[in-house]
Amino acid sequence: MRVGVLGTGMVGQGQASRLVSLGHEVMMGSRAAGNEKAVAWASGASPRASEGTFADAAAFGEMVVNATNGEGSIEALAAAGAGNLAGKVLVDISNPLDHSGGFPPRLFVCNTDSLGEQIQRAFPEARVVKTMNTVNINVQVDPSVIPGRHTMFLCGNDDAAKADVRALLLSYGWPDEDVMDLGDITGSRAMEMNIAMWLRAASTLNNWGINIKIVP
Ligand SMILES: NC(=O)c1ccc[n+]([C@@H]2O[C@H](COP(=O)([O-])OP(=O)(O)OC[C@H]3O[C@@H](n4cnc5c(N)ncnc54)[C@H](OP(=O)(O)O)[C@@H]3O)[C@@H](O)[C@H]2O)c1
Repeated sequence: MRVGVLGTGMVGQGQASRLVSLGHEVMMGSRAAGNEKAVAWASGASPRASEGTFADAAAFGEMVVNATNGEGSIEALAAAGAGNLAGKVLVDISNPLDHSGGFPPRLFVCNTDSLGEQIQRAFPEARVVKTMNTVNINVQVDPSVIPGRHTMFLCGNDDAAKADVRALLLSYGWPDEDVMDLGDITGSRAMEMNIAMWLRAASTLNNWGINIKIVP
């Protein structure tokens, strides 16, 4: 599959590398083609790896991953182009973090709305699936880094898109029974607000490779 990964940070790099290792063709997108981090990643990763603008990557991908900074995500996706996202699964990993007040960051949207919903509203023809924002990149792409069973969430309005993302998560190693569908895109509220608990627990333990497990 061709995947456009929007984002040159640790999440974009980790997702892009994992996708390439699984045999996918990946274009990493950033605000400007020739981004230093994107070029370094593309030249070192694989012949299946390339880089370009957000629009190049979104046009390239049959699936698109949003791994951009939460405060810039709508702007990044606008640069990617609504037309390049239309009809495609948009895997949204972003968190709506406002770091302006120091640690811990605040959420710039919460309770009655979420960044996942803002993205779905701004790009109604994209099939947004929120997932993986609740764990760090190492865990996102390889759940076995944490021993035992633990939970990955997803949500979105489009059942077929969620099935595609579930398949992607399974290819990353997530057991089907540990992938929990939280329903429509309003489930993003809970997934994004969970970051407060994640940050508090991770900083308390001084261990950022943690996750939670839902025990019915
Ligand atoms: N770090 C983790 O383990 C983790 C875990 C879960 C979720 N997340 C979420 O995943 C996302 C990516 O995190 P990250 O740490 O890898 O990278 P990041 O530093 O949060 O974001 C980097 C990307 O955002 C783009 N960007 C920043 N400001 C922008 C703006 N105003 N307009 C358009 N694009 C902008 C950058 O573009 P350029 O390439 O052009 O510089 C870059 O590609 C974030 O939303 C984060 O909250 C992170």
